Amino acid sequence: MQAGLNIPATTIAIDGPAASGKSTLADLLARRLGYLYFDTGVMYRAVTWAALTRNVPLEDEAAVTRLAAELHIEVLPPTVEDGRRYTVLADGVDVTWAIRSPEVDASVSRVAAYPGVRSAMVPQQRRIAARGSVIMVGRDIGTVVLPDADVKLYLDATVEERARRRWLEMRAQGREADYEPVLASMRQRDEMDSHRDVSPLCAAHDAIILDTTGKSVEEVLAEAERLIRHALAAKGKPCPSG
Ligand code: DC
Repeated sequence: MQAGLNIPATTIAIDGPAASGKSTLADLLARRLGYLYFDTGVMYRAVTWAALTRNVPLEDEAAVTRLAAELHIEVLPPTVEDGRRYTVLADGVDVTWAIRSPEVDASVSRVAAYPGVRSAMVPQQRRIAARGSVIMVGRDIGTVVLPDADVKLYLDATVEERARRRWLEMRAQGREADYEPVLASMRQRDEMDSHRDVSPLCAAHDAIILDTTGKSVEEVLAEAERLIRHALAAKGKPCPSG
C-alpha cells in the first residue's frame, strides 16, 4: 500500500539484456507516470565495486556473499547535478560513477551469479517495491523479485544493436573503444546472465516482449506507455495522469 493512501502500490517490472534500453525507458516512464524508478543492477554493481576495492577475491564465493550481506547500499535521488539519474552509496561512499567502470562491467555477471549475493539483494528490492508505485528494472524482476507485478515488460534488441549503443555511449563519454571488443563483451555477458543456475535472464511467461531494434527512444516510450496504460486499465488499476 502507498503510505497514507488506500491505493495498492502498482509495480511495473522491466527486464531484458544489457543495453536493451531498459534504464532509459524506465527513467522516462517513471517521470511521465510519477513512479519511483529503481534499477536493481546498481546493487550487483555496488557489491562488485566493493569486492574489487577491498581486494576480496571474486572467485571466493563465500567472501563475496558475506560482503553482499554486510554492505549497506542506498539509492537516493541525485545528490549532484552531473547527469546522474540517482545517487548510489555503498557504505556511505558515492559510487554512482565508479560502478560503471570497465572493471566492474567485466566482473559483475560473475558476482550476480552467486546465489548468496542474490538472496541478500532480492529482499531489499522487494522492500523498495512495497514503498509505493515503482518501475523496477533488472533481469529477474518479472520472474523472481516481483512475480505478481501489475505489468511486465521484457525489452530486447539484437546483440549487434545493443553493442553499438554501448559503444556509442562510451564514445560520447570520451572513452576510447573499438566496436568489436564491446560486441564480444556483450556476448559474454549475455551468455553469463542467461545461463547461470539462479534466476537466469529470461522473459516471464506473462511478460510483454518489446523489441527495440531499430526503434528510437521516443517510439519505444510511446509503445511502452500504451501497453502499460492498457494493462493497468484491464486490471482496473488507477491509471496515472500525464
Ligand atoms: O543492468 P546492469 O548492466 O547494470 O546489470 C549489471 C549486472 O547485474 C548484469 O550482469 C546483470 C546483473 N543483474 C542481475 O543479475 N539481476 C538484476 N535484477 C539486475 C542486474
